[in-house]
Amino acid sequence: MNLAPLESLRGNYESMASDWTVPQHAADYSAEDQAVWRLLVERQTALAKVHACNEFVQGLETLGIGDGIPDFAAVNAKLEKLTGWRVVGVPGLIPDAVFYDHLAHRRFPVTVWIRTRAELDYLVEPDLFHDFFGHVPLLSNPVFADYMQMYGQRGVEAGAKIDLLARLYWYTVEFGLIRTPEGIKIYGAGILSSAAEVEHAIESTDVERLPFAAATVMHRPYEIDKLQNTYFVLDDFRELFDAVRSEVPGYLAH
Ligand SMILES: [Fe+2]
Repeated sequence: MNLAPLESLRGNYESMASDWTVPQHAADYSAEDQAVWRLLVERQTALAKVHACNEFVQGLETLGIGDGIPDFAAVNAKLEKLTGWRVVGVPGLIPDAVFYDHLAHRRFPVTVWIRTRAELDYLVEPDLFHDFFGHVPLLSNPVFADYMQMYGQRGVEAGAKIDLLARLYWYTVEFGLIRTPEGIKIYGAGILSSAAEVEHAIESTDVERLPFAAATVMHRPYEIDKLQNTYFVLDDFRELFDAVRSEVPGYLAH
């Protein structure tokens, strides 16, 4: 995946550091930004309580994700104690190599700007709501946290095979499902940050829900900008960690 020219991206890349991070300036969000956050967080939390896996819902509660736009520093104080992860602000999309290096060092890049009210249901680039609400809660879970760090490490090593890892991310971190005693639940951020995708992923009779297998996932191309046709279902988060620890290096080597 190549990064589009910076001038064509929405964020402000002018004042970033060499690792592409920027300060969040948590006190500077407007009343309208906060109102958009509240609308989204209320809607998606209600859906998550019904359809997300327990680990995600627990993460929302443990990290205190609710009414106001989270202050990254306050969240980091809790998250670092739990799993050693930290959230860092970024202007928006960043190059693959930078992204993987952050993950390998337990830093999750979160876009600092939030969408407008006209974009509640869809926007082109990931924003604060998608990045934070979708991704950060599960970083409080030790097994998933270890997966994300090891995934980043594989990304650093992947070289020309980076597409295989991008698919693994897509079908797990963004669009993953997990089987639980209460039925199939969601853990993917791309689903949990979208009302339409939650309903589609759980209720549609017109999609494939296949057992997770790293080899299958890494060779299955995906389409962006539309509801998914295929989801992969875990039985346990340990499958993810085991895949990146033992199985993935073999595919990256050949
Ligand atoms: Fe994402």
